[in-house]
Amino acid sequence: MALLEIDKLEKSFGGVHAIQDLSFAVSPGSVHSVIGPNGAGKTTLFNLITGLYTPTSGRILLDGRDVGGMPSHRLAAMGMSRTFQNLQVCMNMSAVENVMMGRHLHLNGRILPSLFRLPAVVRGDRACRERSLELMEFVGIQRYADAHASAMPYGALKRLEIARALAAEPRLLLLDEPAAGLNANETAEIDELIKKVADSGVTVVLVEHDMKLVMNISDHILVLDYGKKLAEGDAATVRHNPDVISAYLGAA
Ligand SMILES: Nc1ncnc2c1ncn2[C@@H]1O[C@H](COP(=O)(O)OP(=O)(O)OP(=O)(O)O)[C@@H](O)[C@H]1O
Ligand SMILES: [Mg+2]
Repeated sequence: MALLEIDKLEKSFGGVHAIQDLSFAVSPGSVHSVIGPNGAGKTTLFNLITGLYTPTSGRILLDGRDVGGMPSHRLAAMGMSRTFQNLQVCMNMSAVENVMMGRHLHLNGRILPSLFRLPAVVRGDRACRERSLELMEFVGIQRYADAHASAMPYGALKRLEIARALAAEPRLLLLDEPAAGLNANETAEIDELIKKVADSGVTVVLVEHDMKLVMNISDHILVLDYGKKLAEGDAATVRHNPDVISAYLGAA
C-alpha cells in the first residue's frame, strides 16, 4: 500500500485553481519529487498534505486513511513532518533549542508539568537535548550546537530546519526547496543528506527547483503545471517528456 495517496485533490482560492484533479501515490521508502514552474502549486500541495489547508475536494490518504483537513499536530503525531520554503527558524533561540522544539511532539502533553520542572521532565529534557544533538550531527551542523540561530550562516540554517523536522521522528518528510539559495557545493551536500535521510528509512517528498539535485536523487518525479499533473515517472521519463521540456525546462 502507498504510504501517501492523493486522490482527485482540488484546492481553489477564490478564482485561482491552485490544485486541480491531482492524483498520485508515494511508495514507502522512496524519494518522490514534485517539480514545476513558480506558482504551479507545489507549496499549496504541501500545505494540503500537512493540514495547513483544507482541500476543496478530493482525498489525502495516509496509510489508507483519509487525513484531509486534519490538524497539523495530529498529522505530525501520525508521522508527518516538513520544512518550509522560507526558513521558519526561531532566531532568538540557540540551534539545539530549535531542534528540541521539533522534538517536543514526543514529549506530548508535558507542557504543564514542564512549567514546574518535575524531575521526569528534566530527565526528558536531557534525553531530548541528546537526541537533538545527534540529529545536528546527522545533518552536519554539530559545531553550531550552542550557537545562537541568528549567528548561523544560511546554509547551516537550511540544515537546521531539516534536523528540526527529523526531531519529530517522522516516517514521511516533506522538504520544500531545501537547496534554495545554496551554492553548488552546498547543494551537493544537501543531495547527500537527503540520500542519507532516505537510507535511514524515512520516505521523502521533495519540492526543488535545482534539476541536477532532483534528477540525481528521485525515484519518482511528478511535474505540476498550473496545479495539474503534467507528467510523472522516473528521471529519464520526465526529462524526455516534450510537454515537460516546453512547459518547464524550456521556461527555465
Ligand atoms: N493562501 C493563498 N491564498 C490565495 N492564493 C494562494 C494561496 N496560496 C497559494 N496561492 C496561489 O496558488 C498558486 C500556487 O502557489 P504555490 O505557492 O503553491 O506555488 P509553488 O509551486 O510553490 O511556487 P514557487 O515555486 O514559487 O514556490 C499561486 O497562484 C498562488 O498565488
Ligand atoms: Mg513554493
